Amino acid sequence: MSKTLKDKSALLIISGGIAAYKSLELIRLIKKSGGHIRCILTKGGEQFVTPLSVAALSEETVYTDLWSLKDETEMGHIRLSREADLIIVAPASANIIAQIVHGNAEDLATTTLLAADKPILIAPAMNHMMWNNPATQDNITALQARGIETIGPTEGDMACGEHGMGRMSEPEDIFAAINAFFFEKPLEGYKALVTSGPTLEPLDPVRFISNRSSGKQGHAIASALHKFGADVTLISGPVALPDPAGVNTIHVETAAEMLKACESALPANIAVCAAAVSDWAPTQNADHKIKKRGDETPPAIALKENPDILKTLASHKQRPQLVIGFAAETENLTENAAAKLARKNCDWLLANLVGQDDKKIFGEDQNHVYLITSSDTQDWRPMSKQAVATKLAEEITNHLEQPKVQDAAE
Ligand code: CTP
Repeated sequence: MSKTLKDKSALLIISGGIAAYKSLELIRLIKKSGGHIRCILTKGGEQFVTPLSVAALSEETVYTDLWSLKDETEMGHIRLSREADLIIVAPASANIIAQIVHGNAEDLATTTLLAADKPILIAPAMNHMMWNNPATQDNITALQARGIETIGPTEGDMACGEHGMGRMSEPEDIFAAINAFFFEKPLEGYKALVTSGPTLEPLDPVRFISNRSSGKQGHAIASALHKFGADVTLISGPVALPDPAGVNTIHVETAAEMLKACESALPANIAVCAAAVSDWAPTQNADHKIKKRGDETPPAIALKENPDILKTLASHKQRPQLVIGFAAETENLTENAAAKLARKNCDWLLANLVGQDDKKIFGEDQNHVYLITSSDTQDWRPMSKQAVATKLAEEITNHLEQPKVQDAAE
């Protein structure tokens, strides 16, 4: 799979935000990879980086003004979008995101975006309260539903001194997303099923047993496999994430429902079980809310074991060609994960160590996984969950591209 961006053309819109300085590095990465890049700098963007730096790095005229007679005669906002294969907005401020949602055409950037007939990738960057504001969250959901792809934001310290979700993804991660976009679709013709999120096992109409899984890793994997061209069915427990664009998403609550939905999605070539399936469910789901019983001892909760979805798929008569699971271990990571690989009859496990800080893995944007197969252990080093997803899609592609033993003999 070639990773050069030679003959590829991108339009980068830099809007106002301190993360604009990271876009300079993104321009450098695209140029270094042989790609062609033109840039639009908004008025806000100009407060953080200068047109001169952007022009010097992109080796192109920088466009800033909708009403520039010179720019319009030489290039024009329609041509700016038509001549790009991909439009990237990085950083995408809360304001430009809202403007795209509403179809505003106030300046060169928003007019170009409104007139665009090309795929758009946005990299949001803002204060965490602005990001978590329902207005922004609704805007992001609306954009994703229209097929606009998003990367990030990530969690971390912010320039304003606060901490939270809202940092723009690192230039390397945005660059990886651009690369994934430009690849031919190597998994075209393959069917994948992915499980994600927690399961929720009811005790009565208002109470349940569940866990802290956010679904971020599983959803990112479903998105990455879709970007690589696979036909993806995502079977998700309850999460606070939008359905990934282009992915057939089935919503379930219990492990039993998740297993049923997985079996209905067969046959598939690839199965990735990223869900944190509850190991147990209450034996009884009471029809009515269980009441306090005064001085009596509190009711005991009897549990039954849930089906093991990964193990069931890996031993199924319609077993996918490649069955991949996750393993969260507190100790002896590689030994325990290797034993789990064999016990569950799966092909690969992505294992991570969870210790006293294990709560941090849930809902975090970073993950440090090891890829464990029957013959190899690879340390993938800490990286964003999106980067883990892209790397896994690449590994799956490489594996499926390898000739099988009997093919090689032919
Ligand atoms: N898994 C599953 N169904 C279950 C339990 C787990 O499909 N009922 C899958 C998870 O999606 C994950 C893998 O099995 O891919 C390993 O999950 P993990 O919780 O680490 O393993 P357990 O089987 O629960 O083993 P243990 O808790 O003893 O480590």
